[in-house]
Amino acid sequence: MARLLHGQHLIISGGLGDIGRAVTLLLAAQGAAVTLSDLRSQAEAEPHVAALRAQHVAARYDQVDVSDAEAVQRWVNAVADGPLGAPSLVVPNAAVVTVQPVLELSLDRWSRELSINLTGAFALAQAAAHRLVQMRRSGRIVFIGSWAGHRPHQSLAAYCVAKAGLRMLMRQLALELADHDILVNEVAPGYVDAGLSGQLFARNHGARDRSIAQVPVHRLSEAADVAREVLHFCDPATRYHTGAVSLMDGGLSLLSGAKP
Ligand SMILES: NC(=O)c1ccc[n+]([C@@H]2O[C@H](COP(=O)([O-])OP(=O)(O)OC[C@H]3O[C@@H](n4cnc5c(N)ncnc54)[C@H](O)[C@@H]3O)[C@@H](O)[C@H]2O)c1
Repeated sequence: MARLLHGQHLIISGGLGDIGRAVTLLLAAQGAAVTLSDLRSQAEAEPHVAALRAQHVAARYDQVDVSDAEAVQRWVNAVADGPLGAPSLVVPNAAVVTVQPVLELSLDRWSRELSINLTGAFALAQAAAHRLVQMRRSGRIVFIGSWAGHRPHQSLAAYCVAKAGLRMLMRQLALELADHDILVNEVAPGYVDAGLSGQLFARNHGARDRSIAQVPVHRLSEAADVAREVLHFCDPATRYHTGAVSLMDGGLSLLSGAKP
């Protein structure tokens, strides 16, 4: 049976995280070759790379710290010059979160978080778009944003500002790359029962239950739900969305009146 993404090549940062792994597995199952990066060593990445290859697709892992924008550019160029060629599907996904009242947030911490969550995403998207434009090829960029991009949260200043910046970066790229048939969109999850929220839940007793009670639909989303939204934006049949936000927060934004 023909697979939806046959002939496509995904590049994703933070690919060993919970959402990163779900996205790579789902897109590989649909036939996309996968290049992923993260902070961990090649050996640590190997089990996941093997799981991707078990889907009968090519898979490549590189250790890249996205806070080093030049390293990200070198990575994208090395990948594009390699056997898999220029990536056609681009998912800037790596992120960290600092929970600290804004009055206690150090300049170092602020800068580090923006360099990973915002500048790192910019470096990946821009470098990949450059290669597509040079080759006159179409493509898709899907940012992993957050409902924190349009609604402030207690003690999450750097994260919220980075995700708000990411939203405008997404819109800016959508406008500037439309002529090149590169469609740019964002998936904006609320509480996911995995990854960054999952780590916060594990550290704070009762936080998971409180979050479930807060969400209008009274449940959390899963990493696989986020991956399905990414697939939707990468599906060749989704050809008219650009500059769009897929908000998947179970109704949280309705409570605050905040809009994407
Ligand atoms: N989990 C949630 O509830 C939630 C909600 C909204 C948005 N998101 C977004 O989803 C995306 C994925 O996060 P996740 O929840 O899977 O968390 P995660 O911690 O499981 O994954 C993040 C990955 O990014 C990597 N990373 C961190 N710093 C890096 C750096 N400097 N260079 C390269 N890689 C780095 C980590 O090693 C990790 O593997 C993030 O953009 C996050 O903001 C998550």
